Amino acid sequence: MPSTHPALARAEAFCQAHNIRVPILQAPMAGACPPALAIAVANAGGIGGCGALLMEPAAIRQWASEMRAGSNGGFQINLWIPDPPPRRDATNEAAMRQFLAQWGPAVAADAGDVAMPDFAAQCDALLEAGPAIVSSIMGVYPPDFVARMKARGVKWFATVSSVAEARAAEAAGADAVVAQGMEAGGHRGAFDAAKGETQQVGLFALLPAVVDAVRVPVIATGGIGEARGVAAALLLGASAVQIGTGFLRCPETRLAPAWADAIGRTQPEDTIVTRAFSGRPGRAIANDYARAASSPGAPPPAPYPVQRGLTAAMRTEAAKTGDMNKMQAWAGQAAAFAQAKPAGDIVRQLWDGARALLS
Ligand SMILES: Cc1cc2nc3c(=O)[nH]c(=O)nc-3n(C[C@H](O)[C@H](O)[C@H](O)COP(=O)(O)O)c2cc1C
Repeated sequence: MPSTHPALARAEAFCQAHNIRVPILQAPMAGACPPALAIAVANAGGIGGCGALLMEPAAIRQWASEMRAGSNGGFQINLWIPDPPPRRDATNEAAMRQFLAQWGPAVAADAGDVAMPDFAAQCDALLEAGPAIVSSIMGVYPPDFVARMKARGVKWFATVSSVAEARAAEAAGADAVVAQGMEAGGHRGAFDAAKGETQQVGLFALLPAVVDAVRVPVIATGGIGEARGVAAALLLGASAVQIGTGFLRCPETRLAPAWADAIGRTQPEDTIVTRAFSGRPGRAIANDYARAASSPGAPPPAPYPVQRGLTAAMRTEAAKTGDMNKMQAWAGQAAAFAQAKPAGDIVRQLWDGARALLS
């Protein structure tokens, strides 16, 4: 029987359109989204996700083939839209290398020369992998790629962090927008990196404003950690929700134990938006390194991805030793709700709880 509550009816329409049972998407999380996690979410009726930012085409194909071997459910593959080439500043980078040497191993002179996988080749690999959904963050896909997706019937979900970005994504052909509140863990999706810091809108204000501004379905993301958040997002006009941090403690995610444990202890006020790890603003557990890097007198972070290269040695060492004071430990403001439970159980618990609240 169709649901009577308009919020549930909207979610059901989204589920029908995408051939899923539960309007919950596992966020694509570069470096933290093994196929096992996406399989568990898809098998529970939601949509699994792959953040392919750091993956070469062969790795993208491999991820999709492992996903298909484990589930015939829905999945999305996600790319970052590349920023213009970074403006290098040798003097500042030297100061940053010196600063970072206080926190980790000496930083090699060429550490900032980061080569990212080729974006066009990644786009080709996405189409070859053939997910039902391709998503984007940090901008919109070029028109020729949008046309290729549409020709194959692939749906495009575009992450946005403002009303203006939502309008731009709809105009560029997005089939849905993912409204990312500033509560979100990981990188902020602002099209313009500078606005990621200066223009931080919370999900409660962003979501209804985006819903009113576009005709395509809106997926809510950022700081949703339990059933009340899911129900609230649907009431505010979302057709579905996307959850990242809430899946990071699942056994399928195999996160570094120190990071996973710290998430369970992280209150909303214990995270920080910082450019100090990668050069792009992202929300992480506030730690000694992130605080020192934003204190007066510290050199400003280099642009993305140069800063990512400069911090690589420190990040790798901290991950190996489990040192939370230096670790790049992305987490959203709802971190403490994340449970160390199988992802399928979390999906069922969230959806049963939200439905009960809306019935
Ligand atoms: C570890 C981590 C990695 C992420 N990587 C990506 C990514 O590669 N692409 C993307 O679109 N979003 C990425 N995000 C952001 C998520 O898509 C989503 O917006 C966010 O997790 C939602 O907030 P929540 O963590 O509070 O649930 C990442 C988030 C985390 C926590």
